[in-house]
Amino acid sequence: MDSISLSTVAGVQACGGTAAAPLLEVDDVVVELGSGAARARILNHVSLTVRRGQTLGLVGESGSGKSTLAKTLVGNLVPASGTIRFDGRDTKGLKGTRLRTLRRQVQLIPQDPYSSLNPRRTIGQALAEAIDPRGGNPRRHSRDIAEWLERVSLPAEAATRYPHEFSGGQRQRIAIARALAVRPELIIADEITSALDLTTQADILNLLAKLRRDLETDDAVHLAQPCSGPPRQRRSRGALPRRLG
Ligand SMILES: Nc1ncnc2c1ncn2[C@@H]1O[C@H](COP(=O)(O)OP(=O)(O)OP(=O)(O)O)[C@@H](O)[C@H]1O
Ligand SMILES: [Mg+2]
Repeated sequence: MDSISLSTVAGVQACGGTAAAPLLEVDDVVVELGSGAARARILNHVSLTVRRGQTLGLVGESGSGKSTLAKTLVGNLVPASGTIRFDGRDTKGLKGTRLRTLRRQVQLIPQDPYSSLNPRRTIGQALAEAIDPRGGNPRRHSRDIAEWLERVSLPAEAATRYPHEFSGGQRQRIAIARALAVRPELIIADEITSALDLTTQADILNLLAKLRRDLETDDAVHLAQPCSGPPRQRRSRGALPRRLG
């Protein structure tokens, strides 16, 4: 599995997968939000490539458009211009099964885990849907659900509870489990620790490192190696810089 991690520093860091085929190719993407006089260009000709096996870290100041890019990559926002190719295929105008497949292949773990969990669905229902898109049944998938909960250090009985019954750190662990249970090809982690206190941030980062190790031994999931070395720094103002990395 390949990943993008977005955080509030400035610059971009990539590691691993340098010779592999591109998995995600973002070319000259422009995104504008708001309407009428309030319409503003948020992403200003952004281009980047993530290859198979590569981890790309994208950093920029608050308000520079990291979450906007993340939402665009999973198809929640539509670019005004530019192209986004996943596994060599243009994602523009995808509909039906192809769109649903893409939405599973690219999983976003958002800044606020509340936004990725339906408040009216139990954790078991959320995980069952992730495990089996054809209407996953929590009872039928109870073993897999318990396994995923255990992977993120939560008890099996968490499956019967609702998102509001958990702390911020626990919700973020559930959001990670839900995203990984889909078995995506690309994970976009949008500042997933920024809303948490320092100790919980460390717990979540340790958990991700552990999952990376655990899942690397699983034939079905390929995780990129952790990045090492300092990020290349590039300061940007307002919209993301034209060429990243
Ligand atoms: N729906 C919207 N309509 C208009 N402008 C928006 C909308 N959503 C976001 N913006 C603007 O887009 C810009 C980029 O926001 P975004 O959330 O992508 O930044 P960010 O880099 O993720 O910031 P942070 O590090 O604080 O999370 C901001 O100036 C924000 O006000
Ligand atoms: Mg953000």
